[in-house]
Amino acid sequence: MSSVRSLKIAKRILVTCALPYANGPIHLGHMLEHIQADIWVRFQRMLGNEVYFICADDAHGTPVMLKAQQLGLKPEDMIRTINQEHKNDFSKFYISYDNYYTTHSEENRILSNLIYNRLKKNFFIKQHTISQPYDIEKNIFLPDRFIIGICPVCKSPAQYGDNCELCGATYKSSELLNPKSVLSGAKPVMRKSKHFFFDLPSCNEMLQAWTYSGVLNKQVANKMQEWFKSGLKEWDITRDAPYFGFEIPNTPGKYFYVWMDAPIGYMSTFQNLCNKRKDLNFDEFWKKNSSTSLYHFIGKDITYFHSLFWPAILECSNFRKPSNIFVHGHITINGKKMSKSQGTFVKASTYLKYLDPECLRYYYAAKLSSNIDDIDINIKDFVHRVNSDIVNKVVNIASRTVGFISKYFNNTLSKDLANPVLYQTFINSSDKIAHAYETRESGRAMREIMALANLANKYINEQAPWILVKNKDRYNNLQAICSMGINLFRVLMTYLKPVMPLLSKRAEYFLNTKLTWNNISHNLLGKQINNFEILFNRIKLSTVIEMIEDSKSFTKITKSPTLKLDTNPTVNIPIKDTIIFDDFIKLDIRIAEIKNVEFVEGSDNLLRLTVDLGNETRQIFSRIRSAYPEPNLLIGRLTVIIVNLAPRKMRFGISEGMMITAMGLNEKDIFLLSPDYGAQSGNQVK
Ligand code: MSP
Ligand code: ZN
Repeated sequence: MSSVRSLKIAKRILVTCALPYANGPIHLGHMLEHIQADIWVRFQRMLGNEVYFICADDAHGTPVMLKAQQLGLKPEDMIRTINQEHKNDFSKFYISYDNYYTTHSEENRILSNLIYNRLKKNFFIKQHTISQPYDIEKNIFLPDRFIIGICPVCKSPAQYGDNCELCGATYKSSELLNPKSVLSGAKPVMRKSKHFFFDLPSCNEMLQAWTYSGVLNKQVANKMQEWFKSGLKEWDITRDAPYFGFEIPNTPGKYFYVWMDAPIGYMSTFQNLCNKRKDLNFDEFWKKNSSTSLYHFIGKDITYFHSLFWPAILECSNFRKPSNIFVHGHITINGKKMSKSQGTFVKASTYLKYLDPECLRYYYAAKLSSNIDDIDINIKDFVHRVNSDIVNKVVNIASRTVGFISKYFNNTLSKDLANPVLYQTFINSSDKIAHAYETRESGRAMREIMALANLANKYINEQAPWILVKNKDRYNNLQAICSMGINLFRVLMTYLKPVMPLLSKRAEYFLNTKLTWNNISHNLLGKQINNFEILFNRIKLSTVIEMIEDSKSFTKITKSPTLKLDTNPTVNIPIKDTIIFDDFIKLDIRIAEIKNVEFVEGSDNLLRLTVDLGNETRQIFSRIRSAYPEPNLLIGRLTVIIVNLAPRKMRFGISEGMMITAMGLNEKDIFLLSPDYGAQSGNQVK
């Protein structure tokens, strides 16, 4: 009997996904994690284990607070709306949460205070006065992500205060060249404030022992070794007002850093579930040495928080630690990194307007493994994979055999199996597939399943029921062969059930049976099935392209220039007629520094720029407004200008030159060009 199936005692398991920030929509990058976890959870439930699957919105922090301000909303109102949207997206992708809550809850406030007080009582909280960048115009301390400037290493402009997206260097925001507050454009000043720190270094030994206990994935454990080597540091858990979060007990004006109360959200969401379901006991799952299991699915970017801070905080406040952390890589689209800050992502809700959620569930399942390598969505491969595997291989087994069963045998399957050996091969794969699911090697599980589907199709091709039907004497054989096809289909649909719950449900109706892991070997013989309805529709590349086009409006709002698609509008623009060198040399192109930028009243697309050419300033109008919703940020930047174009009188004034610009991905967005570091205003471009 199968090692997995033979487990007599049901395991009690609590599973979480990382809590998505409540300042934006769910996108296909997030969906990878929720789909991966949901497949695992559904598989565990199919085995009969007792699984609680929870998640919540991560509602606190500066970005949430500022986003609400930008929208003219109270943060409480904004996070409520976003919470509804997130829940809606997840349920439409069939993510089977037992509870989806928020960190901005009374349960979370109480637990955060409790944990903080325990840490304090146990001497794990230290106090230091620190200096941090401060925006004197907006009166707020600036997190790294709210400071931009020139990368001190590779000198690329417009990089954030923590790391460079181009060269990957990490640095302090004070090291940026020409730093500016994203909120006001002001140069940050340093200001002092008293902060509380969690004493992570004192947990060094405990954490090392935990890592060595062997539960963690190798890549993750290796990463942790690097962190141990470079030394653990005290962790600042304080933020100054104004902040949207929980005020630290007895410390007015100081708040818990969002990353302090966010993981506690795992506990409070479970607490909230316990409040709703009286049969569940919070302590059984969270007390030290609990016999239940706790698994966190997370992306590799937040490993530090989950592998160091979180177990340390739990240990030091006398709660259980996670049984394991399941880390996945990131989604890229057509080979390009999705960047939250740059907005190159397809929203879950946009996807749902065009495509069946199970297509994505299958595609992710087919690409996922237990390692942390990134996963690329290539849109052509996506279409091909779904159509070829689900439609042409799996569903086809039923659709090419069921017609005969309905037409000639009144929807009744044969009493005997035509090929017991082949059937047994299908059943024998159950352990291998279960093991692949169990270890989050769903890609391997899908390959096994598709290999079986190939065998089934080969069998049907060889038996050729469409030829048998022409020979009246062989009707019995026809029924047995087609029934064999249906039985093989049944096994495959059982294996696919964690990945494609809706397709499996349709198959259950059609097969007139419930698909469970434990009854996998119970074949359907002599049984009546239901009429066959279309189980799954082929998808078209053109639909996926439409979806990507639609997503560009989202990209535009968040100013992203990086997503490169097969449908890039710029590639089709024909090259203009050749000019001779004498024409070219007439252009006087110079580097200019932008001194001032203003919106132009009465125009939706123009900005009025004042630029410095070294020895004179000029006023230039340029159609770049849509790509720069915060034009202040352009001040101080160098760009490229044609200076000897005759002045042009426009409705709004005279334009004394021409900016050289480039069309972005979205045809409406037009971007300035930047010279590399070292160029100066007034320099001639050759
Ligand atoms: N709020 C924190 C998590 C707190 S958990 C106590 C956070 N939120 S997030 O919205 O930025 O990300 C949520 C999860 O989605 C993370 O695990 C993150 O790795 C994952 N993903 C976000 N973008 C992703 C991709 N492009 N690809 C795959 N997963 C990524 O971090
Ligand atoms: Zn750099």
